[in-house]
Amino acid sequence: MPRILVVDDEPGVQESLRMLLKSDGDVTIAGDVDAALREISISLPDVVLLDLVMPGRSGLDLLEELSKRGVRAPVIVLTATNTVSAAVQAMKHGAADFVTKPFELEALRIKVRNLVQKHDLEREVERLRDEVEDRQQLGRMVGRSTAMREIFRAVERIARAEATVLVTGESGTGKELVARAIHDLSPRQAGPFIAVNCGAIPSELIESELFGHEKGAFTGAIDRRIGRIESANKGTLFLDEIGELEPAVQVKLLRALQERTFERVGSSASTTVDVRIVAATNRDLAAEVAAGRFREDLYYRVAVVPVKLPPLRDRREDIRLLAQTFLTRIQLERGGARAAANAAAGTATPPPKKLSAAALGALEGYRWPGNVRELENAIEHGLALCEGDTIELVDLPISVARTGQAEALREQWRQGERSFDETVTRFETEILREALESHQWNQTRTATALGITRRVLKLKMDKLGIESRGGDEGD
Ligand SMILES: Nc1ncnc2c1ncn2[C@@H]1O[C@H](COP(=O)(O)OP(=O)(O)OP(=O)(O)O)[C@@H](O)[C@H]1O
Ligand SMILES: [Mg+2]
Repeated sequence: MPRILVVDDEPGVQESLRMLLKSDGDVTIAGDVDAALREISISLPDVVLLDLVMPGRSGLDLLEELSKRGVRAPVIVLTATNTVSAAVQAMKHGAADFVTKPFELEALRIKVRNLVQKHDLEREVERLRDEVEDRQQLGRMVGRSTAMREIFRAVERIARAEATVLVTGESGTGKELVARAIHDLSPRQAGPFIAVNCGAIPSELIESELFGHEKGAFTGAIDRRIGRIESANKGTLFLDEIGELEPAVQVKLLRALQERTFERVGSSASTTVDVRIVAATNRDLAAEVAAGRFREDLYYRVAVVPVKLPPLRDRREDIRLLAQTFLTRIQLERGGARAAANAAAGTATPPPKKLSAAALGALEGYRWPGNVRELENAIEHGLALCEGDTIELVDLPISVARTGQAEALREQWRQGERSFDETVTRFETEILREALESHQWNQTRTATALGITRRVLKLKMDKLGIESRGGDEGD
């Protein structure tokens, strides 16, 4: 259902528009410009019906705010017959259309429908254009999987609005990068980006850290201190690991988020801030709510726009691009210093290092429990250990090298570096060794586990040159 926002101060108009449009979309009513802005920060409307003359700020002010915030929903201006010139003015400010009061209900309805359709089409065109451009990067993030490219598109769109965003995903999937990208692409980009790691601050300090404190508010509060929320004024507040917050702090935060007002610890005076909130967690917050550890009302405040980052093992298409990106980035960062040192010493700078097919195969086959961060570390590890100009399997961390071995073998076979026979033999050797190892080299138990007789196992071991270990020769 398209979201329709009606901004008008007259209850009669509000009601008749609600009735008229309820079968065309979800209708929300705002009685003035401030209420409309609050509403827009929660959900992006697909079309706005706007009365120009209202007590307080006028409809023109709202139009201006919308364009400032990059909200591109079409606006239909509602105006009294004698103020058509104002409507023309509004069109100049970006309104899509206008109707004069008292309006023809059916005609208005058709206009709304047409605009919603046009807006949908425009978004679709934008989506297709992005697809054609095949965007594989956003800020410092790279990715070519469908999932990541969809996230890049969503982040760009979300950034322009003011809505609170909740980024979820396993550790190391890039939640902080998403938060930064949202800030950098938002109208607040010139303002501060303040990150608070709610899980890393001891519980007795978190309140004063977030809200600040007055001098003498508690033992140790020697000076008055501005909290992080206040430091983020006009910018973005990134609440990392929000799932770790204690219930008492959750209550205070909820109020601060709802009213954008709070008190410093030890003060009764309220402070008002203008911040956009992005929160992140690697917990399943909905489950935390169900378990009574996270406040439901705070959850709904925070999870207005969810962004869910998939684990790396579910988007293996990204691994090669990520690995190559890290390889280049790390070498570029170090390369500058090294090139300068070499020039001073009169030695030549070595060429940039590459990944061998086997190493890449291993990277693509590994499960990556630590996600992108683990991959980045693996590349660092590889660069540190690599002596020639190619990072080989042995240069990678042992967990990656071992788990990825099978994939690496397959890759070498694909590249024609190994024959079919050789590949199968290597596979068999790896599997037998692993099985023997997990049964402490007890051949009887290993054979049972593999579903072969002990005699066949022994024959295979001899053929493959696997020596017996342990004292089970006679068992
Ligand atoms: N798509 C990506 N492209 C490039 N680098 C990435 C990408 N995703 C993550 N990284 C890098 O991986 C590392 C981890 O990312 P980040 O800190 O954003 O993860 P996180 O989800 O916040 O992890 P945690 O839950 O452990 O805090 C960072 O060094 C980041 O630069
Ligand atoms: Mg993080």
